[in-house]
Amino acid sequence: MDVDQRVEEIQSDGAQRHAAQDTRVRTIVQGENLDVLRALPDGCVALCYVDPPFNTGRTQRLRRLRTRRDTDGDRTGFAGKRYRSEVVSVSQFADSFADLPGYLEPRLREARRVLRPDGSLFVHLDPRESHYVKILLDQIFGRDSFQNEIVWAYDYGARTKTRWPAKHDTILWYARDPSHYVFGYEAMDRLPYAAPGLVGPEKAARGKTPTDVWWQTIVPTNGRERTGYATQKPLAILTRIVAVHSRPGDLVLDFFAGSGTTGEAAARAGRDFLLVDSNPEAVRVMRKRLAFAAPKTLTLRQFVAAGGPV
Ligand SMILES: C[S@@+](CC[C@H](N)C(=O)[O-])C[C@H]1O[C@@H](n2cnc3c(N)ncnc32)[C@H](O)[C@@H]1O
Repeated sequence: MDVDQRVEEIQSDGAQRHAAQDTRVRTIVQGENLDVLRALPDGCVALCYVDPPFNTGRTQRLRRLRTRRDTDGDRTGFAGKRYRSEVVSVSQFADSFADLPGYLEPRLREARRVLRPDGSLFVHLDPRESHYVKILLDQIFGRDSFQNEIVWAYDYGARTKTRWPAKHDTILWYARDPSHYVFGYEAMDRLPYAAPGLVGPEKAARGKTPTDVWWQTIVPTNGRERTGYATQKPLAILTRIVAVHSRPGDLVLDFFAGSGTTGEAAARAGRDFLLVDSNPEAVRVMRKRLAFAAPKTLTLRQFVAAGGPV
């Protein structure tokens, strides 16, 4: 089966799911994102956006346990049976620039696996590590799959007097298949021309298309959009990504979901969403923010037991 047939098949599956209203995926999972990713089937996600954490200065540790029956085990379970738990791995990362690619690698490999043949991945970074992660993504996706480095430029906050004030983030876009991906040119928002008198009334009324430099203010500290979650990103950034890189009914994934900005952009545009975060506070914020879309909230165990989102 060629890529076009596979995409058609997936889109027709999506259309059938949407014919029955209650099968839409609007799900928040509280859990370790690598476990959630591993529970997802191949090729189920149209668009994935992630904004991983970095530079908290803390060491993050993750212990994986396996429990097996053992008559001399240290724990008693159902019907008095004895079990023993053993640590299968301890993964740990210093939340610092040097270790970020190592931490992200297994997650980004899974992200590629779960993307649809015409799907895209967006990774939100800051200029101190975007180049390390770009090399990693080139290795995982292939250099041809790199489509854009989007610069989100803002102009807010203190200005250092010792170097140029750093006022931008970097968003790397990779298409799973560089010859076949969703890019809804007509769905793009338009911007006013700086000198509308020079382009004629028709063009001036339509506005110009954005470039790879996106000027967008940060989430205003006292605006309605503000959830109180420290690392919240502007809804306008995610609204543009969702509009151009997915279609109605598609599944949008964010496995570092935080306050759920991706979920809000997806829900308001009629897309499905799967949001993952290990932090209970993030899940609380997302549930409140996305109440209008009535999402399901699942633990990792419930998510795996349900067989994933699709
Ligand atoms: C920078 S924030 C994302 C902010 C989000 N883009 C927004 O607009 O609110 C990163 C999130 O990743 C979550 N996180 C970090 N490591 C994780 C992991 N291994 N599994 C799941 N979530 C994780 C953190 O709890 C945090 O909420």
